[in-house]
Amino acid sequence: MANTWDELIQEIKSRLDIVEVVSEQVVLKKRGNTYWGLCPFHKDKHPSFAVTPSMGIYKCFSCGEAGDAIKFIMKTKNMDFKDVIIELADKFGLEVPKSHKTDGSTKELKDNMLMATTVAAEFYHDLLLREKSDNAKMALDYLTKRGIGTDIIKKFHIGVAPKSYSTLYDELRKDFSNEVLEKAGLILKSEKGGFIDRFRGRIIIPIQNENGEFVAFGARALEEGQAPKYLNSSDSLIYNKSRLLYGLYTAKEAIRKEDAVILMEGYFDVISSQAHGIENCVASCGTSLTAEHVRLLSRYTKSRRIYLSFDTDSAGQKATARGASVIKEVFEGLGDIKQFDESYVATNNDKYSCEIRVIAPPEGKDPDEFVRSVGAEAYKMYIENAPLFIDFRIDSILKQKDNYKTPQERAQYISSIIPVLCEIKNTIIRAEYIESVSQVLGIDSSVIKSEVESYERANSPKPERIVKNVTKSNSILQKAQKNLLSVFLVPDNHFSFAQINEMMSDVAFDDKILIIVKSTIDKSICTVNNVKELIEHLYTEFVDNAEAQALLPELIEHAQSYRGLSDEEFENAIHEMIAKINKCKHIEEAKNNKELYKGIDDNDPEALKLQIQLRDKLKKIRQKSEMN
Ligand code: UTP
Ligand code: MN
Repeated sequence: MANTWDELIQEIKSRLDIVEVVSEQVVLKKRGNTYWGLCPFHKDKHPSFAVTPSMGIYKCFSCGEAGDAIKFIMKTKNMDFKDVIIELADKFGLEVPKSHKTDGSTKELKDNMLMATTVAAEFYHDLLLREKSDNAKMALDYLTKRGIGTDIIKKFHIGVAPKSYSTLYDELRKDFSNEVLEKAGLILKSEKGGFIDRFRGRIIIPIQNENGEFVAFGARALEEGQAPKYLNSSDSLIYNKSRLLYGLYTAKEAIRKEDAVILMEGYFDVISSQAHGIENCVASCGTSLTAEHVRLLSRYTKSRRIYLSFDTDSAGQKATARGASVIKEVFEGLGDIKQFDESYVATNNDKYSCEIRVIAPPEGKDPDEFVRSVGAEAYKMYIENAPLFIDFRIDSILKQKDNYKTPQERAQYISSIIPVLCEIKNTIIRAEYIESVSQVLGIDSSVIKSEVESYERANSPKPERIVKNVTKSNSILQKAQKNLLSVFLVPDNHFSFAQINEMMSDVAFDDKILIIVKSTIDKSICTVNNVKELIEHLYTEFVDNAEAQALLPELIEHAQSYRGLSDEEFENAIHEMIAKINKCKHIEEAKNNKELYKGIDDNDPEALKLQIQLRDKLKKIRQKSEMN
């Protein structure tokens, strides 16, 4: 059990698995000892984000962002170090030393907000079930008309908010502060300066997070003309719309079991479908699908089979296209995107692919209406026969072929299918598609093929600039010094830190960041036992120094090149580096002196004296560097 704050940090670090932590946000693919994915800190097209589990670190080779598991959580969740430690301590069931307990700060506030939201959900639910509010009867009638009976009301904790202004507030103010209720989005400041309920005269749909905690509400209008149709909780300390999917808590087992998930648009689509035995469905809450949603889902479906079941109107079609592109963006670059491969079956459990299918019944209804009017069995048939997104797109273009008659019209129309074909990366599959599209369009396949190829050439992405070095000025001298520092981080060599320090005692580091890193290493080496601990210690020490922290992965990486050397080779490598540094220093010094020498006024006797001194100095430097 941890006693001190430092021990707690160490304990948490030993329990954190960087791959697990990063995988919550980034889809990773293993190559050798490193995991690769798309960087969450910049718009990354190709996987340049590397996670090295043996070192417990991540680094993006494109934007340079780097750190350990704790920094990753800090950056992605926008939390400070202390809050991350406290949250993780809570998660691992570790005790936080009294001196570091938050003084009524975030954690406590969050807990209270969660509690208030739960109490509110129960309160609204109770009003509906026991018909205790003026509009409960109306709400029950409305739900009955939508095919929602008591069982479903109970399963989804559906409730009703009365019309009056402060029913909830009057109930909850006894136990919660105004701050908590306002931050949880349950009450609003009124014009008169008091508080009123945020949700009034609406059906209440409580929103649960992945763990089943109540964190927010969607509230549907109950009366004609009441706007907006849905009033949603805003984001808060406990609710982030872009990271939460409605229905996931009740769907997750089914998603795992089916190894597939159905994305829908509305709360009631999910409620009706789940109530009718189609359990593996979720919806975003009044926002369009985000990359974070997709990453969240990828933790539940191994094969990443995602069905899009949006409305069949034009807005729904746009949402389908957008959704598919978000999904592809998340998975792109991680192996083949299997949605293009008809022969691929999701049971392969291939962790690094995805399959996007579209459910679009011709009846033009949303899943809720469809399941209720046509039936769940019919909907299941549509799931079973759902086309791959690529087929769906190609088919919807091909369906319009008779609308274009003249060669000019047809040329323009046919060119709209080229970019779609171009997205098929597997050449055999692409050839198959080109063949069948050509047949339908009645045009020679070689024409389509050459169009696809020239489109591809014109649109091939330019390689991204790789930023290898984090520190800005990167002279040979600085690089040599960095390399030298990295020898402290070579795993499994036989020299102690003290011995290594001794070997480089003559070297004066002269770059600001390198000096900081070296002096921190000097301070740390008495307290750490091995390289892993040293690295962890350095990350903690540099928690407030982004520049120093960013340097660590570079040093760690370079250290790998000294692995497996014999003691003698290792020592020689260090001496060679020191020699190189000294040589660089002499050259630099000579260069500086030369410039000084050039700038001297010949008519000034004092300057002339200086000139002579400098010439001697330069000569000495040259001799010395030749000796090295
Ligand atoms: P729709 O307008 O398609 O409604 O919105 P719906 O889900 O079919 O609703 P019902 O069946 O008429 O009750 C789809 C989703 O968009 C969000 C909600 O999440 C809704 O479920 N939405 C819609 C809002 O957030 N606000 C709105 O005013 C409308
Ligand atoms: Mn609907």
